[in-house]
Amino acid sequence: MSKILQVCQQAPVIPVLVLEQRGQARPLAEALVRGGLPVLEVTLRTPVALDAIRAMREVEGSVVGAGTVLTEQDVRAVKAAGADFIVSPGATERLLKAAQDAGLPLLPGAATGSEVMYLLEQGLDVLKLFPAEAVGGMALLRSLHGPLPQVSFCPTGGIGAGNAAAYLALPNVVCVGGSWVAPRAMLEAGDWAGIEQLAHDCQQLRNGRQA
Ligand code: 3PG
Repeated sequence: MSKILQVCQQAPVIPVLVLEQRGQARPLAEALVRGGLPVLEVTLRTPVALDAIRAMREVEGSVVGAGTVLTEQDVRAVKAAGADFIVSPGATERLLKAAQDAGLPLLPGAATGSEVMYLLEQGLDVLKLFPAEAVGGMALLRSLHGPLPQVSFCPTGGIGAGNAAAYLALPNVVCVGGSWVAPRAMLEAGDWAGIEQLAHDCQQLRNGRQA
């Protein structure tokens, strides 16, 4: 089994995290791990992202990935920060090579049959469908499953408590990603108990029930 599949199989939801303050990292990771979501994606969209990855890795049980990884420099930086895996909205030859050279499992974005086929040729069969709802969502995943049943997806973009269970019920969905389990307002308020509850609610999703 590939390393990225092992990562994706650990929880039904990968929280997509946008952190504005370094101090949010540790309590946020603790809340999500306590709630049952140990696999975390810290997006490289804010100045504190690399510090946040370092801080979150210290939380027992966490598996900390870097998201919005676009360039070779990004790969080197997140490797140095200790990231366990990489997520990207798409894929380029340079990014694939950099991830391979760094020895970091990669979850690359794909949105079309050709993109999926290209990544399959590179030996990657666990992909992020992005931006999931915008490119066709569940209908697209059902359609891709016919000719490309060997590919598993982590749909991300537009997923929330209302549709996550339906996505997870599809045969080619291994997990989903989304920001709804760490909303900006709760982060700013330091509402860690609330975020833990949102994470806990995700445990019900695997059974096909709504959160
Ligand atoms: C993103 O790009 O921020 C992720 O795809 C998460 O999307 P979401 O906010 O719709 O969950």
